[in-house]
Amino acid sequence: MCALRRPRRPDHAHSRLWRQRWLDAARRELRRGKALYTSLTCDGCHTLTGIRATGPTFRGLAGSQVKLKSGKTVTADDDYLFESIETPNKEIVASFSALMEAVIKPHSVSERDARDLIAFIKTVR
Ligand code: HEC
Repeated sequence: MCALRRPRRPDHAHSRLWRQRWLDAARRELRRGKALYTSLTCDGCHTLTGIRATGPTFRGLAGSQVKLKSGKTVTADDDYLFESIETPNKEIVASFSALMEAVIKPHSVSERDARDLIAFIKTVR
């Protein structure tokens, strides 16, 4: 006897609408993040091109392995990126100086802005 039942067919109209809403929200987040990169002056220290400036480039940053001054190596996941924005001097990237906090004070970026910035950083490949 077969106990497995076919899953119920999804409600296609509904899931399409849901997906569209999700995509719209993701696009909005991304557009905001991109605008914040400039308006919060991140662009003064971080390039999108792979070129090293005062700070590390955002290109390829998300998901990469980052060596820290403390000797640790961490994965640049959402939590790491969030911490880097909210408490810039807590961990310093190896071979860089603790200069970010001179401009971006701890917890001066709202949580929403930080999330949108992260959504944008993830697209910089
Ligand atoms: C005055 C220059 C400066 C500004 C402005 C600045 N940063 Fe930074 N940032 C740095 C430096 C230098 C580092 C590396 C040293 C460290 O870890 O603090 C860094 C590190 C980072 C890191 C970790 C990068 C890595 O390779 O692991 C992230 C993420 C980051 N900054 C995001 C931002 C965002 C988002 C903004 C805008 C809200 C911003 N920064 C504005 C200088 C700056």
